[in-house]
Amino acid sequence: MSKRRDTLKLGLFLRATGHHVAAWRHPGAQADAGIRIEHYQALARQAEAAGFDTLFLADSVGVRGIDSPVFDRLIAPHLTFEPLTLLAALATVTRRIGLIATASTSYSEPYNLARQFASLDQISGGRIGWNLVTSSDAASAHNFGGSGQAAHADRYARAREFQQVVDKLWDSWEDDALLLDRDAGLFLDRAKRHFTEHRGEHFQVRGPLNVLRSPQGKPVLVQAGASEDGRELAAATAEVVFAAHQSLHDAQAFYRDLKGRAQALGRNPEHLKILPGVTIFTGASEAAAQAKHRELQELVQPEVGRELLSGLLGGVDLSHLSLDAPLPRDLPLSNASRSRQELIQKLADEGLSLRQLYLRLAGARGHWTLVGSAEQVVDQLEAWFQGYGADGFNILPPTYPEGLDDFITFVLPELRRRGLVRQGDYEGRTLREHLGLPYPQHPAARRGQEAVA
Ligand SMILES: Cc1cc2nc3c(=O)[nH]c(=O)nc-3n(C[C@H](O)[C@H](O)[C@H](O)COP(=O)(O)O)c2cc1C
Repeated sequence: MSKRRDTLKLGLFLRATGHHVAAWRHPGAQADAGIRIEHYQALARQAEAAGFDTLFLADSVGVRGIDSPVFDRLIAPHLTFEPLTLLAALATVTRRIGLIATASTSYSEPYNLARQFASLDQISGGRIGWNLVTSSDAASAHNFGGSGQAAHADRYARAREFQQVVDKLWDSWEDDALLLDRDAGLFLDRAKRHFTEHRGEHFQVRGPLNVLRSPQGKPVLVQAGASEDGRELAAATAEVVFAAHQSLHDAQAFYRDLKGRAQALGRNPEHLKILPGVTIFTGASEAAAQAKHRELQELVQPEVGRELLSGLLGGVDLSHLSLDAPLPRDLPLSNASRSRQELIQKLADEGLSLRQLYLRLAGARGHWTLVGSAEQVVDQLEAWFQGYGADGFNILPPTYPEGLDDFITFVLPELRRRGLVRQGDYEGRTLREHLGLPYPQHPAARRGQEAVA
């Protein structure tokens, strides 16, 4: 296959003290960073100076694992701000970097969410993305009515309709709806207002939205589900997909599958960027990288590791199992994230004990982990990019700020040297421009062009 001409895209996945399960115990960490706005502001500025295309914030509308005996060590260190509120704060201290936040379609209404993201897109000058999730965790369900968690397929059916309504709400006003004609006394052109008029199974929304279109038209749509339903929705609607893979082979299979589905639906596959997560331990040499990795792994308390594994398997009870025994094959599958459970089962099939398994997952909950010198790390990233397993990466530093410093000091210059990332400053202003995504023309403008043609 010919060498790619595009450059790989870089996202930075923010998370309190870092992605490693023991990050908060690291001597270089500010243990309570999750509730320090200065911490996030400094990281956002640093990422922007380094040229990252976007920041990414995950979310859950409950405390996952609150009933765990070790929630105080496993979960509590990651308690942090509500992501849209945090993005608003970060938008005002940055000028170029994209800002993506996760929000659930299961515990919100399309009007609220469309409005919040449209507002942020205005505030940031067109730098926002919405990571649409259906919320696989039961903890969230407990905070919204007593009926418990909806089934996987039902969550996705709601998500599909939810996304359609949001998209339509974002087209409530044409780009040139504002007249601001003081002389004629006309503020806005009412012919450029569009009602949503949605009547569906889950939602009834008249519209229009009370926020105008933004400099990038509408926020970028991001997704991270990998199940059959998740892929179908992503192929039809997503512009960026985050993924978790352990091997180039799996990454390529996912990449081919998703781009193929998008193409079959009449979309240009280049307008769907696939960014697997990767956590990187690096330093001035391979030995230095190995030492950093070892230092963190040694901080993982066995009971925390066991609970981490249990949580990633959707809350299945592992307390009776020996840490030196393999993971049983007949564990009950939960209603949670199927793709992550399958990924863990695959690792278990390599013959790993429970202890080895949680240590493999300690770095970033199942995301790809690299330990090595800058050259070794970039060899791998390049192979995934050139091998069409990724259009870029969502970087999950094991620790903040040290893990980000290391990526910027060691890996980024090597990526630049090989021409794999943008050489200089940002070329555009909006997140769409950074990612090479087209401007979403308003349907009325599209219709107008068709009429002229
Ligand atoms: C990089 C990445 C980040 C994710 N972030 C979140 C998140 O913040 N909140 C959430 O509820 N789910 C998150 N997920 C999970 C998915 O978006 C999805 O809802 C879940 O995997 C269930 O869908 P699936 O069964 O289609 O995989 C994330 C997944 C990936 C790969």
